[in-house]
Amino acid sequence: MSLQGKTIVITGAASGIGAACAAEAKSLGAKVIAVDRNEPTAGLCDQFIRADLSRADSIDAVAGEIQGGVDALCNIAGLPPTRGGALVLQVNFVGLRRLTLSLLPKLNDGASIVNLGSLAGFGWAEQVDQVRALLDVDSLDDVATFCTQHGGDDARAYFLSKEALIAWTLQRRWQWRARGIRMNAVSPGPVETPIHQDFLQTLGERAEEDMRLLERAGQAEDIAPLVAFLCGEGSRWIRGVNIPCDGGMAAHILCQQAGID
Ligand SMILES: NC(=O)c1ccc[n+]([C@@H]2O[C@H](COP(=O)([O-])OP(=O)(O)OC[C@H]3O[C@@H](n4cnc5c(N)ncnc54)[C@H](O)[C@@H]3O)[C@@H](O)[C@H]2O)c1
Repeated sequence: MSLQGKTIVITGAASGIGAACAAEAKSLGAKVIAVDRNEPTAGLCDQFIRADLSRADSIDAVAGEIQGGVDALCNIAGLPPTRGGALVLQVNFVGLRRLTLSLLPKLNDGASIVNLGSLAGFGWAEQVDQVRALLDVDSLDDVATFCTQHGGDDARAYFLSKEALIAWTLQRRWQWRARGIRMNAVSPGPVETPIHQDFLQTLGERAEEDMRLLERAGQAEDIAPLVAFLCGEGSRWIRGVNIPCDGGMAAHILCQQAGID
């Protein structure tokens, strides 16, 4: 597979899965534009744009920094539950969506948008009322009020951020079809990155049970090839799907729910 000649914007490229995606995209020949609040490792990207995805002014300034057309946008940046519910909802969903919409004029026809979901968002359909309420929150400034109204702890906010992201990905399956722009999601299970400990801390026994079921934790390099595939031509008819990349965890949940385990 080649990404030769493609320009790919990757958020979260300074660490973990985003850094692995940047390395994968570069190895496949892409020009990588990294967007992060921290600077990526030298040589990992062709351009670095410092931005804070929890702040509207910072998000809105990104498009002006990009020269020329963009072939793929990988929304990888995200925060774990320990960073607090409001900030998590801002960065993982409301800010991500704002950046995506602001970059639409920069996207070439046929471009691909890839959102980093999570196994944590798998149950979005069962939480659809709360998901719908978050989808209706347009402004980053309104997230704190949303949290007060909808309650829930920090772990729930993380789950909700990923539920909303997956639901939005499916909902917008044909939004930009006339321009050939497609949007998909990739949902990892537990991956050993700097935020892995935060998940274990917040989710406690539930996370430990997941780790017992898996033969090993995922690595960022397990996720990056799938993200790269979704950026490339081979995935051109894949649209509005959420693809688990989780060592079999999503299949396990579905089989248990259907009673065929
Ligand atoms: N690690 C896991 O187990 C796991 C599992 C499922 C999904 N995910 C998702 O994968 C994505 C990447 O996480 P990771 O595990 O690589 O974590 P990470 O902490 O290694 O990387 C996250 C990156 O996002 C950036 N970032 C955070 N807040 C930002 C902000 N306000 N503005 C700009 N950049 C910001 C960080 O600087 C960092 O470079 C996240 O969306 C996360 O929710 C992770």
